[in-house]
Amino acid sequence: MRYKAPKGTHDVLPAQSHRWRALEAAFADVARLYGYLEIRTPAFEETELFVRSSGDTSDIVTKQMYTFLDKKGRSLSLKPECTAPAIRAYLEHGLGQSGSITRLCYASQIFRYEQPQKGRYRQSHQVGIELIGSSSPLADGEVIELAVRFYERLGLRDVSVLVNTIGRRAGRERYGEALLSFLEPYLRSQDASFRERAHKNPLRLVDSKDPELQEKLVEAPRIGDYLEADSKERFEAVLEALEAAGVHAIPSPEIVRGLDYYTDIVFEVHSTSLGSQSALCGGGRYDDLIEQMGGPITPSVGFGAGIERALIAQEAEVAALPQPGVDAYLVAATSSAHEYLATLARNLRAAGISALMDYEGRPMKSQLRQADRSGARYAVIVGDDEILAGSVTLRSLSDSTQRRIQQDAIIDTLRTE
Ligand code: HAM
Repeated sequence: MRYKAPKGTHDVLPAQSHRWRALEAAFADVARLYGYLEIRTPAFEETELFVRSSGDTSDIVTKQMYTFLDKKGRSLSLKPECTAPAIRAYLEHGLGQSGSITRLCYASQIFRYEQPQKGRYRQSHQVGIELIGSSSPLADGEVIELAVRFYERLGLRDVSVLVNTIGRRAGRERYGEALLSFLEPYLRSQDASFRERAHKNPLRLVDSKDPELQEKLVEAPRIGDYLEADSKERFEAVLEALEAAGVHAIPSPEIVRGLDYYTDIVFEVHSTSLGSQSALCGGGRYDDLIEQMGGPITPSVGFGAGIERALIAQEAEVAALPQPGVDAYLVAATSSAHEYLATLARNLRAAGISALMDYEGRPMKSQLRQADRSGARYAVIVGDDEILAGSVTLRSLSDSTQRRIQQDAIIDTLRTE
């Protein structure tokens, strides 16, 4: 075969696409219950949007963006995440009204130049929400609760909700300085670009995958000791809101998140059914982002949830969803029945019943084989006899039982059985 899907991308084949649809429908319904309205943003944006929002030291911006110049020399990037585009659209179209909350949800591709492995791709898909315009801990609670309800809806049981607070800028800066001086000997052994990134954003060191660094971090200063009092209070209030919602949240200082826009609450939902890429979903509060993007101060909170990862966890934990087949395969017992069946197929489809038929003039036996292969529930067999009698023969393809029914009963029968 000549062509293959590019590395890190995949086709969603018919044997899987019904699972995607079911997941997206479950998400859309949970989001609807909390009053979120869908937004769809373009596949690419001005590169600057992501540099300003995700942060020019984040891995996403420095290493993972698909950036290109268009024919007029503009720098554009395929979206590596959905929050900045949603906020860009929110500001561009004036979706917010002062004093009221705007709730947006989405399902979208994202593009990150990653080293692909199970659960990590170069083109992946997210569903997510953004609650824009509330600083209440109840808003954080709502967002995290919604994520948990979504995974419950998918039938996932082995999930844990990890919550942390990274405070506000001043507290984070104090913590960053303490962390850098504690890790100075380690940093001296690293190359210049690593040190530069560490100095620009010391928090990133906390979720490093380097085992040597992780070992050093055990004794390192904790962010909780450097936070402002109101950040600590908010954290407690969010934990209380979650407890009231019946969500068991685990305070987790190691969760710092890889995007620069977060303030205060950050969280991830993990699943033990996933391998090393165990984060099903991640999100948090971003109270400064909208102002940084030229809008008014607008405290906000949201999450993004990987579709592929949810499907991997669902496959491990939940019985397979049956693939939907067609309702009826129409079989011509005599060649003269063909035209009659073409009309019947049209009438069935008009009534919302899916129908297939043979176009190749195959013998009846081979049509029945096709009917079996198609996964249809019924074969509707019509020959000269049936046409004369105004009836059809209905054969159940699950148990091979067969009976005659009147033509005018067929729609009701297929609908109810
Ligand atoms: P994120 O943690 O970068 O956050 O991504 C959220 C989720 O998307 C991850 O937990 C994971 O399930 C999935 N994901 C991300 N990258 C990949 C990948 N390369 N392959 C497969 N799945 C992936 C954000 O994107 C933020 N915009 C979330 C947010 C919304 N924060 C506030 N509002």
